[in-house]
Amino acid sequence: MKKHAFKMEVAAACAACALAALADEPFVGFADDKVEVSDAGSAGAPPPADAPYRNPGLDVEKRIDDLLPRLTDEEKMHLVHASGGMTMGHVPRIGLVNFRTPDAGGGARAADRPGITYFPAPIAYAAAFDRDLAFQVGRVMGEETRGVYPAKEAGPNGTARVLLGPGVNIARTPLGARNFEYFGEDPRLAGEMAAAWVAGLQSVKVAPCMKHYCFNDQEADRTIINVDCPERAVREIYVRPFEIAVKEVDPWSFMNSYNKFRGKWTSHSAYLNDMLCKEYGATGAMIPDWGGVHGMPEAINAGTTIESSTREDPKRDKRELKLLAEGKIDRARFDDSVRRALRFYFRVGAFDTDKKEERELQARCEASFRSEEHQAVARRAAEEGFVMVKNDGLLPFRGKTVAVVGPLADVKHAMSESDTNLRRHGGSGAVKAAREITPLEGFRTVFGSDNVVTGKNAAEVAAKADVVVYCGGIDHSYDREVIGRGHLVPHDRPDLFLKKYGDKTQEDEILEVAKANPNLVVMLNGGAPLSVEKWHEAAKAIFVTWYGGEFGGEVFARMVKGEVNPSGRLPYTYGKKLDDWPSHALGEKSYPGVWPKPPKKNKKGQLWGDPWQEYADGIWVGYRGFDKYGIEPRYPFGHGLSYTTWHVGSPEVEKKGTGNGERGTEWQLTVRVENAGKMAGRRAVLLWASKPQQKDAEMPRRELVAFESVNLKPGETKSVSFKAGFEELKYWSEQDNRWKMPEGEVKFAVE
Ligand code: BGC
Repeated sequence: MKKHAFKMEVAAACAACALAALADEPFVGFADDKVEVSDAGSAGAPPPADAPYRNPGLDVEKRIDDLLPRLTDEEKMHLVHASGGMTMGHVPRIGLVNFRTPDAGGGARAADRPGITYFPAPIAYAAAFDRDLAFQVGRVMGEETRGVYPAKEAGPNGTARVLLGPGVNIARTPLGARNFEYFGEDPRLAGEMAAAWVAGLQSVKVAPCMKHYCFNDQEADRTIINVDCPERAVREIYVRPFEIAVKEVDPWSFMNSYNKFRGKWTSHSAYLNDMLCKEYGATGAMIPDWGGVHGMPEAINAGTTIESSTREDPKRDKRELKLLAEGKIDRARFDDSVRRALRFYFRVGAFDTDKKEERELQARCEASFRSEEHQAVARRAAEEGFVMVKNDGLLPFRGKTVAVVGPLADVKHAMSESDTNLRRHGGSGAVKAAREITPLEGFRTVFGSDNVVTGKNAAEVAAKADVVVYCGGIDHSYDREVIGRGHLVPHDRPDLFLKKYGDKTQEDEILEVAKANPNLVVMLNGGAPLSVEKWHEAAKAIFVTWYGGEFGGEVFARMVKGEVNPSGRLPYTYGKKLDDWPSHALGEKSYPGVWPKPPKKNKKGQLWGDPWQEYADGIWVGYRGFDKYGIEPRYPFGHGLSYTTWHVGSPEVEKKGTGNGERGTEWQLTVRVENAGKMAGRRAVLLWASKPQQKDAEMPRRELVAFESVNLKPGETKSVSFKAGFEELKYWSEQDNRWKMPEGEVKFAVE
């Protein structure tokens, strides 16, 4: 068997590889790791050049049917394993190339190739409530995924064809350290954003790996915690974004989470995998998170398709083939895994690199890398995603001089060229950006350097200008993936407050600045709700700008000046205190979980044990919980102000029955939206449904069922249409163990 060794060029490309390194455990793909690549059971002559499976014009299932009988058992076993830390594929005999699988987040991460287009964090385009934007972001990130390793320079690891995202875990706690990578607290919003992003990515034949399936909704103990959750919440909240994406765009792959669910690792949970693949019809590959398989027989028997992050290892393949022969690996499950793996490799064009269409697509993506058009989409995501949550009439600012102060005024959040510290920049969500305009730089560009003052003593500087912009919040030392196995501290954010950087809290500093200059604008950086309680009255305007990508600082300055009209809406409820969230009010069993026995060190020195957690808040997550318990939020889900005046009419509702029982009822809704103010702008329109109470289920006061986005000039009016049918309105009956349409009159509201 021919073997060649090569050096992975990717420095700390894989968060999980860093995880294994910390865990003092061998792991492939880590910086400077030597990876052995074999030809994986490729003994024998290649199939003929005109074999039908080599024809890209043929239907994928037919290509698989043709290829399957040509494969050796060793090749089949190889196909259900990765070929390296961040690579997959690679069976040269049959023409399957090796290809890379970079992480998503702020863009296509390639730690050894700085200079990608840096997008705002995904939570920002959730805040835009704009599916077209999510599609464009997905498409551009897909093009950059292919472009970042040009075919000619890609080396033995190949070009990239998978982007490890989108993340659709639910923000059941505002403290969740990866909330910035996800799409907020509502499953419909998360599912629709993911579906659009995935469609964009797949349009350029790059596979998503929709993650983390399921219940990785916090970072605390995520690699060991055992989650239990009432079935209705499993269906309606946590699996729902995946279900929505499956039904809309059939994503090409999914990533199982690290944690356990009802006593089983999710990658060993036939229950979860079958729900997605058999019940909801996913045809994509199930790929456990990096290092998340705890025994391949169990994983395959539960529906795993490809074990990620493994090396090529013919000895392991032989061992596992023996388990297959002995019946310890289920034959039907294994066959399904091989079929799904092939489908995945065909879909990303990994068999077709020598074909014209594939070569042209690759060349087009390489040529578009960091094009103006790509950068324009990153800028648009910031323009649409920033949320103005308060404006006492101070803005748009018409004065001249601006003081830009606060701990995050001149901070870059992405990695720099020489920096490989993933952890400090968010973990899997980190990127090596081509550039990042900080708020200070942005204000200097937009207002002119002579009109911008800054300095350390914030209050003193504030007094010197017409308006003061305080840039604070949190950074990636809080908002980041927890890298490492077992029980690790720190994990999620410690509390709801702004991060303390120096001697003073930011809260105190904001109050001092407000005294020095009452024309105070506060910019909040960070991926999740923060407490504004101590100081929000002192600020005349407040913005939530997430992680704004490469243009963030400039877009924000233009927004303050009124050159960009704010249009984002909060994808989270902003509570006043932690216990406002039912997940916290219910105590430690609910968050962060409890330890029946304290953690112990295992043989590898990791703090291991069996923490568990009960999602006792059920479906009462985010606004559903605030509504149920009558808790007044500081800012509700969907809150967001504009510089223009919007009139959103009441919906005209038409009920249509197709005669197909409860699944056949559908409502068509039309609403008129008018820009009645003086500035052009974009309006995201949200459709809410209030379902009547049911005998077998308590209904939330309202639920988001759809959203649309319109751009209107002053005085312009447009009609917006929605559809709401079974898929949008169904609820899970625990009594009947099935989806049902609510009985009685559904009420709709638009805002
Ligand atoms: C993260 C995933 C990521 C993977 C590969 C894991 O630690 O949880 O989100 O895609 O590493 O870097």
